[in-house]
Amino acid sequence: MSDSYVEDDLADGRAALLSGWSTGSEPGLVITRASGALVWDAKGNEYIDCTSMAWSNNIGASVPEVVEAAFAQARQLSHLRSNFDSVPLLLLSKAMTQQAPGDLKRIGFTLHGSLAVEMAMKLAMANRPDHTGPWLTLTDAYHGRSLASMGLGWPHTNHAFDRTFPSVLRVPQPYAYRSGRSDDEEVDFCIAELRDAITRRATGLPPALIMEPVQGNGTQLDFPDRYYREVQEVCAEHDILLVFDEVQTGFGRSGSMWAAEHYGVVPDLLVFGKGVGGGFPLAGVLSSTKLAGFQPGDEALTFGEFPVSLAAGLAALKVLHRDNLLAECTAMGQYATQALNELKPRHPLIGDVRGPGLLIGVELVRDQQTREPAAEQTLEVYRRAADLGVILGTTRYAGLGNVLKIKPPLCLDTDGADFFADALDRVLAEGW
Ligand SMILES: Cc1ncc(COP(=O)(O)O)c(C=O)c1O
Repeated sequence: MSDSYVEDDLADGRAALLSGWSTGSEPGLVITRASGALVWDAKGNEYIDCTSMAWSNNIGASVPEVVEAAFAQARQLSHLRSNFDSVPLLLLSKAMTQQAPGDLKRIGFTLHGSLAVEMAMKLAMANRPDHTGPWLTLTDAYHGRSLASMGLGWPHTNHAFDRTFPSVLRVPQPYAYRSGRSDDEEVDFCIAELRDAITRRATGLPPALIMEPVQGNGTQLDFPDRYYREVQEVCAEHDILLVFDEVQTGFGRSGSMWAAEHYGVVPDLLVFGKGVGGGFPLAGVLSSTKLAGFQPGDEALTFGEFPVSLAAGLAALKVLHRDNLLAECTAMGQYATQALNELKPRHPLIGDVRGPGLLIGVELVRDQQTREPAAEQTLEVYRRAADLGVILGTTRYAGLGNVLKIKPPLCLDTDGADFFADALDRVLAEGW
């Protein structure tokens, strides 16, 4: 973009914005450039981006091959009515379904994760017309901010939006670190709660259970392996569809292409978004061949199959494989998690370090024994780390607000991991 603006223009624009974090706890940075795992602000300061810009730049920021593919597509054909097919639509459909696990061999696209969640909800309703009960979701889930997707995850009461929300039954997610139970006891408890919800609390059979394989915005929490299998078994017993919302966990972030593969469970519907577009808006659903697709007109958004994003997605998929980013993610995840675990004995604020691949959560506590959540300190760590050139994420949406989220691009190298682990070490060493 041209530099023909002055600071006042930016301040006027910010004052006019309806929403945004920049007036709240975020540092209010104006980011002007990004490359790989790095971003630069308008003053030229450099940061490691441990948020991959809302967990979307999985292959890195502004990757030249992706930008070129998007530009080339835009020059040739930028927009197409959904009655017609574009070449990138068909090529990406083929590539993604060929690589999808199990029988997830049908695909639909849209532009936002929230709308992809709604696409999955529509497919579930169309395929289970007699299941008129509530949606099953997990406590502290996050599924987006359109009205229906927000309803699945938004756990707060008495706010302006809930009068239009769908009917939802929340079941507890395994969180052994907080419940004090062992992993096995916790899984038994949660599965029993799920059975109870279906057989005694739901008025009518639920069409689907929708869950993030690793909860992102809520608690940055992964679950014991057995939980995924048993959830699938319970759903199958009642003919309830299992939907994995992989908007955050997908496209390599767990070290596997999909977290479904990482945990060895293929759901009926898999929702994707964020990283799939290589920095361009792209989301959608992979569906089991056992399910019927849409009738004409059920799913037809004006920009739903945006050729520019689809071309970017195709290029991003090639880069993911060319650069061996699944294996890189596994290796860097282990490296970074170990570095963070090594900080734990020196810093009593660190309670738990968790997550596969580069889906890392660091839960901060006021006391390692009582595990009292350290929410204020989490925000302060976040601010001080930004001063040292590291952009972290924090859980604010639900949960307890005391988890640092570290989910950098998968192209992060060991120097990058050392840099943010060292910054965290320094921040945690400053008086608390
Ligand atoms: C798990 C999950 N589902 C859905 C969404 C919504 O995606 P979008 O913001 O692209 O609508 C998000 C976004 O953070 C997410 O993390």
